[in-house]
Amino acid sequence: MKDCVNIGLLGVGTVGSGVLHVLEGNAAEIAKKAGCKIEIKKILVRNKQKAAQLGKKYAVTDNFEDIVNDPDIDIIVELIGREHPAKEYIASALEHGKNVVTANKDVLAKYGKELFPLAETHNVDFMFEGAVGGGIPIIRPLKSCLAANRITSVMGIVNGTTNYMLTKMLHDSMDYDDVLREAQEKGYAESDPTADVGGLDAARKLVILASIAFNTRISLDDVMVSGIETLKLCDIDYAKELGYTIKLLAVAKHDDEKGITVCVRPTMLPTSHPLAGVNDVYNAVFVEGDALGQAMFMGRGAGSLPTASAVCGDIIDVARNMVHKSTGRINCTCFDEKKLCRLEDMLSPFYIRLHAEDRPGVLAAIAAAFAAQNVGIKTLIQKQSVGDKVAELVLITYHVSELAMQLAVQTLKGLPVVKDVCSVIHVEDDSVE
Ligand code: NDP
Ligand code: HSE
Repeated sequence: MKDCVNIGLLGVGTVGSGVLHVLEGNAAEIAKKAGCKIEIKKILVRNKQKAAQLGKKYAVTDNFEDIVNDPDIDIIVELIGREHPAKEYIASALEHGKNVVTANKDVLAKYGKELFPLAETHNVDFMFEGAVGGGIPIIRPLKSCLAANRITSVMGIVNGTTNYMLTKMLHDSMDYDDVLREAQEKGYAESDPTADVGGLDAARKLVILASIAFNTRISLDDVMVSGIETLKLCDIDYAKELGYTIKLLAVAKHDDEKGITVCVRPTMLPTSHPLAGVNDVYNAVFVEGDALGQAMFMGRGAGSLPTASAVCGDIIDVARNMVHKSTGRINCTCFDEKKLCRLEDMLSPFYIRLHAEDRPGVLAAIAAAFAAQNVGIKTLIQKQSVGDKVAELVLITYHVSELAMQLAVQTLKGLPVVKDVCSVIHVEDDSVE
């Protein structure tokens, strides 16, 4: 029976150093839980001088081949991030019969389709709990605890940077540029925050969640993505007045007849919704299953130790599988082909803010443009004047299709009385009939 499992660790940045801290600090408990000792055999660094900070405790290399060709290494833990060479390292590790643990959503969202079959062919474990929601357990619950359910929807706040920014905009009335600067100063947002604010980081995580929840391969191209860059403080305030909170929501829904919808976009949620109260850098994932009903998983979606908690959980699981000779027990679960929902079948209410001439007959023209696409208006409020005889109008529609909404907005933009269609925001509210 195996009494020690050896790790080759790729990268000791934020998460990698957290993994060293947890494995070292909790070594005795971890060994008891895993059924064997877990040791770091070698660490891959890019800069050996920088690695001197690690002391003499660990063997360090700047050559990946030293790790992948080491027959004593059982698990390769990839924490260098980004697509390349991380993808090539993971593929090579799997081909060499090494188990792999990673938190790399960039690689999983784009290359999962290639990598999972490799893990299966070589009968090894490939685990990635830290890739979505940092420390929050969500991959394993979907794959194991909720495996008996037909999952109908997964909605998540899965980007900490944007959730921090939206919380600040709501609570402190800070505008977008100031709050982004603050998020960068606090180290939440990357120095290049494009993937966070543009929704790509959340879209990558949604690809992983939806593929697992619906047992089918979802790709990044399937996801409708828009970020928070154009969101205005006044929309956040109007949403509050109307009883909603705006979150950057990653939503995946499955309907047996209509198919799968996958979207990342600013979304208005009723303030009573459990996700609406998830603030600051916290993440949460709200799941609905036919047997489970509703459940929410919430916690720290990023950071050194929270993410290390998930990575080390995976390491322990791989070690347990080795001890009990059940490696490869849970592999890729994307075994079905499912269709995507068409724009005409995607139904929801929408919030629209527009500027229009402030004179009799204008509202009738606007209502007619909506009616032409069968878009019913539930609420319409005329806000303050925004210029000489120009009024700001805010309205919420009944459930309408994505396609009808797009066509109605096009028509509105062509009306001479409409000066600007400033915002169109999806509303997630089942109480709007
Ligand atoms: P960091 O940038 O902090 O750390 C990456 C480390 O890998 C750095 O030390 C870097 O070295 C090293 N590295 C990069 N390229 C190479 C290479 N080719 N060879 C050897 N070493 C290399 O990233 P994080 O720790 O934040 O992220 C790691 C992974 O975890 C990413 O996939 C990320 O998406 C994911 N993740 C991160 C979370 C977080 O909160 N940070 C949360 C959830 C997931 P150098 O210092 O020389 O650049
Ligand atoms: N940039 C990510 C976030 C880090 O803000 O949530 C965790 O993936």
